[in-house]
Amino acid sequence: MKINNKNNPVIVERSNALSGSIDTPSDKSISHRALILGSLCIGETKIHNLLLSEDITSTICALEQFGANINMGEEQNITNIYGIGIGGLLQPSKKIYLGNSGTSVRLLIGLMSSCDVCVEFEGDESLSKRPMGRVLDPLKEIGLEILSNEKENLPLKLKGAALPVPINHKLVVPSAQIKSALMLAALNIRGRSTIIETIKTRDHTEKLFEYFGADIQTSLNDLGQKEIMISGQKKLSPREIDIPGDPSSAAFFIVAGLISKGSKLRIKNVMINPTRSLFIDYLISMGAKIDFLDKYSKCGEEVVDIDVTASELKGVTTSLNDAPSIIDEFLILSVAAAYAKGESKFCGVSELKVKESDRLEAIINMLTASGVKCETKDDDLIIYGKGEVPGGSDIKSNYDHRVAMSALILGLGSKSQIRIDDVSPIATSFPNFMEIYHKVGGNFHSG
Ligand code: S3P
Repeated sequence: MKINNKNNPVIVERSNALSGSIDTPSDKSISHRALILGSLCIGETKIHNLLLSEDITSTICALEQFGANINMGEEQNITNIYGIGIGGLLQPSKKIYLGNSGTSVRLLIGLMSSCDVCVEFEGDESLSKRPMGRVLDPLKEIGLEILSNEKENLPLKLKGAALPVPINHKLVVPSAQIKSALMLAALNIRGRSTIIETIKTRDHTEKLFEYFGADIQTSLNDLGQKEIMISGQKKLSPREIDIPGDPSSAAFFIVAGLISKGSKLRIKNVMINPTRSLFIDYLISMGAKIDFLDKYSKCGEEVVDIDVTASELKGVTTSLNDAPSIIDEFLILSVAAAYAKGESKFCGVSELKVKESDRLEAIINMLTASGVKCETKDDDLIIYGKGEVPGGSDIKSNYDHRVAMSALILGLGSKSQIRIDDVSPIATSFPNFMEIYHKVGGNFHSG
C-alpha cells in the first residue's frame, strides 16, 4: 500500500494485536556522516543502504554544491561518491537550503568553517528557529565570520577561515552535533585540535574518522572526560560502508509492540551502540519483553534482530548523564511511560526544547490532552502512568517527525481515537513509516 503522507491528517483508532516483521530503515546520523566523509575523499566511496529520506537529501544537495559527485544507484541501494578532498570545497553558486535537518546544517557549518568559502544557509520554519550559536561561537575562535545581520538563527551568511587556527574546546552543551561540527572543522586545520566531551554523546563521528583514516586519537583524561585529538590536513581514504539500521526509528515499533495487547513483532537490523540504544535497557527495566536474536556487525557497529512481545510496563527513572544518549527517544519513551503503571521520571530534559519542535512541550501537550497526567519539575519530566491511555485528543506535529510518529503509536492502544494534524514530517527520517504501520496492523484512516 502506497500512502501519500504530504500534509496528511490521520486518525488512529485502537488496534488489535500487532504482528509481523519490520526492516529498520538505515541510520540517519551515520548516513549524514558517511556522505560528508565520502565527499572529502579523493576516489570512490561506496555506501550501501544509505537512508533515503528528506534530511539526507538535504545533505546530498549541499555536498553537491560543494563539488562532490554523488550518484544514487538504482539497484541494491548503492551510492557512489567521488569526493573533493580535505579542504577542497568549491564556492557554492547559490544558497544552501537544508529543509528540516539540524544535523545537516550544524555539521556542514563545521565543515565549511575551516575552508575559504562563503556560504548562505537556509532552512524551513522549524530549522530557522533552532539555535546555531552553539556551533558558531566555538567556530568563531578558529576564524569563522558571520556576515549576515542574523547571528544565531538561519538564514545565515558565513565566511570560512582561510587560515584557521586549531581548536581547543571543552563542550558546554553535551551535543554530538556540536562535537561533530568541531571535528569536521579540525580536518582542514593545520596542527592539532582538541575537543573535550564531559558527558557522553553518540560516537559515530569518532568511529567513522578512524574508518576513513583521519589522524584522530581519543583518550580519557584524569577527570574521566573524553579527549578527542585531531591533526588536520591529512588525506582520508575512500571506503565501502554499509549503514546499519537506526535504533531511533526502530524505537517507535519496539514501543508499539510493547503497548498493544497480544502483539508480537520482529524488528530487524537494529544498531546496538551504547550511545544510541540505552532506551532498550530502560524499556527492559520497565518490564519489556525484548529478546535479542542474531547479532552481526555492520561498519564497526553491532546490529541485532529483536523480538518484542506485548508487556505490562512499570515506571522508570532515567539518569541525567544518560539524557544525551536517549535524547531522540524521550518522546517515544514518554508513550511507554504513559502505558506503564506508576511514576516515570526523565532527568535532564531541557535540550528537548530545542529539537525539531519544543519536544518537552509536545510531550506535555500530547499526554495531557490524551488524559495522562505529567509535569515538569526543574529540569525533569514526571509522567504518572496508569497502565491505560484515555485518548480523545487532537495532536499537532509541529514540523516534527518524532512527534507525529509518537502520537501515532500512542493512539494504538488508547480508548478513544487520536487525531494527528499532519504526518508529512515523518518523511524527514522514516519515509515508509505509514506503510509499515499499516502492514503490522495499525488501525488508521485519513482525518
Ligand atoms: C544527532 C545528534 C542529536 C540528535 C539528532 C542527531 C547527530 O542532536 O538529537 O537527532 O546525528 O549528531 P544533539 O547532538 O544536538 O543533541
